[in-house]
Amino acid sequence: MTTLTTPTTTTFQLNGQALSVTVSPDTPLLWVIRDVAGLTGTKFGCGIGLCGACTVHLGRRAVRSCITPVSAVAGAQVTTIEGLSPDGQHPLQKAWVQTQVPQCGYCQSGQIMQAAALIRRFPKPTDDDIDAVMNGNLCRCMAYVRIRQAIKIAAAEVQGASTHA
Ligand code: FES
Ligand code: FES
Repeated sequence: MTTLTTPTTTTFQLNGQALSVTVSPDTPLLWVIRDVAGLTGTKFGCGIGLCGACTVHLGRRAVRSCITPVSAVAGAQVTTIEGLSPDGQHPLQKAWVQTQVPQCGYCQSGQIMQAAALIRRFPKPTDDDIDAVMNGNLCRCMAYVRIRQAIKIAAAEVQGASTHA
């Protein structure tokens, strides 16, 4: 009989590469990303979906990898901060540097992944859009004002690039 804890092979795309893991199907995606794939940019904060430190993309959606069982991503595309841009030059990453957003930095990969989903949905985000989408991503260093500025800079760059394409 197969139970939830019986190791099972799950295959999905992680940053564009196929990854097969044989673990209990209820293993959080976060631990597969960090411990099996060795990608440590995605952080553990609360473990219960309340802080956003572990945010990754499942397809085009931002999800909390600490509460996403690996079985839920079978056959899907998962993107982490390491896969957001091949050269670390995503408009958000550039804006984050320009605005000097991070303080301790711990929450920042989750913030950027959430913001990347945000600017896809809201190409010209207002303060209200940003607050609505980002309010589940907590920052104990209170970098919220700089996060908002950086999101607007990045969104404007993406808009400019698409206007001039
Ligand atoms: S570690 Fe996943 S939401 Fe906090
Ligand atoms: S920069 Fe320290 S928790 Fe956000």
